Amino acid sequence: MAVSVAALALTASACGASSSSGSGSSDDTTIKIYTGRHYDLEQAFSQFTEDTGIEIEYLTGTDAELREKLETEGDNTEADIFMTVDAANLALAAKEDMFQPLESETLTTAIPEQYRNADNSWFGLSLRARTIVYNGEALTPEEAPSSYAELAEPEWDGRVCLRQSTSTYTQSLIASLIANEGRDRAVEIVQGWTDNAEILDNDIKILESIDQGKCDVGITNHYYLARKIEENPDFGVKLVWAEPEGTGTHINISGAGVTKNADNPEAAQQLLEYLATDGQNLFVDGNHEFPANEEIPVVELVEENFGSDFNRDQLNAQEFGDLNSEALAIMDEVGYR
Ligand SMILES: [Fe+2]
Repeated sequence: MAVSVAALALTASACGASSSSGSGSSDDTTIKIYTGRHYDLEQAFSQFTEDTGIEIEYLTGTDAELREKLETEGDNTEADIFMTVDAANLALAAKEDMFQPLESETLTTAIPEQYRNADNSWFGLSLRARTIVYNGEALTPEEAPSSYAELAEPEWDGRVCLRQSTSTYTQSLIASLIANEGRDRAVEIVQGWTDNAEILDNDIKILESIDQGKCDVGITNHYYLARKIEENPDFGVKLVWAEPEGTGTHINISGAGVTKNADNPEAAQQLLEYLATDGQNLFVDGNHEFPANEEIPVVELVEENFGSDFNRDQLNAQEFGDLNSEALAIMDEVGYR
């Protein structure tokens, strides 16, 4: 079986000619994907090609770049699927009318309602929990905060590391606070975070700063800590599943939809169905995420270190995706940078 996956540079002018694997692929046996998700695509795509004979080509880029490209190309786009991380990016693409609704019992059965949008034009495929992490030497599990709002309290002044406002991860967490706590309370919390925290560029830096004792607590996506523990089982940062009694830990998604102007919508839908079912583990496990499909087992490293049976925020991903601009407004208001 020929290897069929080709990663194209964003500057490539045409997908068509560049990735022939010698198996005589024609247009209706090739799916083209624009993807802002960079993790673990090859294995799942290769397996799909092996199973179906349908080839996959994909183009990686930032979400904004790819959305702009889709918009500019309009009817002439080569993309059959737009794939991205974060509900905000999916909601934005849906708002710009880039997807087509799908009728697929496989998808609606596999993916719970809160992880897809109301007209079934995009579907979450993997779940990432954004939760509280702490230095295991500085704090006992009892001393570690278990709610997002606690990190805004004066006792944590100078002891918190958080991620910058330009990250959709930060934006979606704050959007969920607006939905769960109301706007006024969300402003108070983000104000407290701003007073208390050092703001860093990415989740890995947050984890390393906590490990080095530069801060005691922070908020990151769970899979970054899983990655650190995989590299070094003695890594000094521990995880708390936030909001155990209340609304539950914030859950974001990575997901995809079939583009409105797809040349090959049937095959594109077939790929999404595969990724939501038999392909879940290949798509999800390498990045230590949770399967969106609840029938699929959680990867061992995550199950063993963190467990998967915790109170998850049931907030609809479309709902907090749609609150993105409100989250940006609050950060601007209180000076969260
Ligand atoms: Fe990430």
